[in-house]
Amino acid sequence: MCSEQQVMTLVKEAKIHEKNNTQEAAKKYLEAAKALLELSSHHPEKENEYIDVANRMYTKAKKLKANEISNDTQGTTISKPKNDITFSSIAGLEELKQDIRFKIIEPLKNPELFAYYHKTIGGGVLMYGPPGCGKTLIAKATANEAKATFIHVKSSDIKSKFVGETEKNIAELFAQARKNQPSIIFFDEFEALGGDRAEGLSHERSAVAQLLTEMDGVDSGDQQILLLAATNEPWAIDAALRREGRFGTTIFIPPPDLAAREQILQLQMQKRPTEKINFSLLGQMTEGFSGADLKAASEYATNLALKESLLTGKKRKITQKDMEIAITKTQSVLRQWFAKAREQVVKKKLEESFKELVEKANQLKNFQISISSAPVSPILLSSTPQLLAT
Ligand SMILES: Nc1ncnc2c1ncn2[C@@H]1O[C@H](COP(=O)(O)OP(=O)(O)O)[C@@H](O)[C@H]1O
Ligand SMILES: [Mg+2]
Repeated sequence: MCSEQQVMTLVKEAKIHEKNNTQEAAKKYLEAAKALLELSSHHPEKENEYIDVANRMYTKAKKLKANEISNDTQGTTISKPKNDITFSSIAGLEELKQDIRFKIIEPLKNPELFAYYHKTIGGGVLMYGPPGCGKTLIAKATANEAKATFIHVKSSDIKSKFVGETEKNIAELFAQARKNQPSIIFFDEFEALGGDRAEGLSHERSAVAQLLTEMDGVDSGDQQILLLAATNEPWAIDAALRREGRFGTTIFIPPPDLAAREQILQLQMQKRPTEKINFSLLGQMTEGFSGADLKAASEYATNLALKESLLTGKKRKITQKDMEIAITKTQSVLRQWFAKAREQVVKKKLEESFKELVEKANQLKNFQISISSAPVSPILLSSTPQLLAT
């Protein structure tokens, strides 16, 4: 059985941990509460007193735990990585993976080595490109690979309608990142937060200013905080945020090429029951599809087989034909995105900054026939994929 003395020690330890390790502090308070309850049952004369103190310890532990789980910043989730999405779940984009490994993952994993070579770490990576091509996926995989705390910021959510709130939210965010190092802050839909100050409202301008201040702070210390951002509207991002030391590295995330399309389809189908599927042919049929489109087509094909099985009561595997029908039913918005993107980039004279985007848009411009949404005979599809791919 424990003594009053031991309870005192536990409380002392809890107090020491309270500032730096709330989890440990909460644990100590809980142990103290438990010990007090045990004591109370052996000392009827002090029962009430012990129970009172135990109650207080319990409340303290509960508060500490609540602080740890909730985060006051709206629109963000903080998590330690779960090992489900890694670089191997991303098809293609090899160069990008290397870049992120060198700029983000390795500095977080080997800070001493980077210090040895006098490499200042910090600065952020801005990913831009059409929707559904893997930007968010890459951010999640990066956090897992780096085993860092991942702070996922949905920029439109953090942007409060109340003047001044956004700045407070941003400041709070960086405080969380500092507390949970090593950490990665990922600004998704970055255009909502880092928009061009020349065009925004005054409180939006101050959001950008606050971001710049925080980023310069991160860069000057030897903090293990790295920044990632993603946007479908790179032309709308304030130019000051794209300078060296801030989001100095800008990376275009293109639509998946032939090999990547094959691989994404394979990834989508690998755990599902299929007959022999000609992924190479499906890859050719899906030029101009985003990763998200390929995922949608895979779901569609799976549903065809599933629904039929429900109707007939007999399980059947997913076939090549299912996949081809699904592809004809899926319409990609990439072409429209590229048309709009080029228009905006040219209008704002940003062709130099977003070269790859313009190049890709020009390629696609000459790429006429789109996949029709009308059902096409699968036989016709298998024999003439070039009809669709040119
Ligand atoms: N390169 C890729 N490899 C594997 N899956 C991909 C890839 N690109 C997109 N996907 C699929 O499409 C979905 C949407 O991608 P996401 O990362 O959310 O796009 P973005 O953030 O660029 O709009 C992903 O969850 C994934 O299933
Ligand atoms: Mg996204």
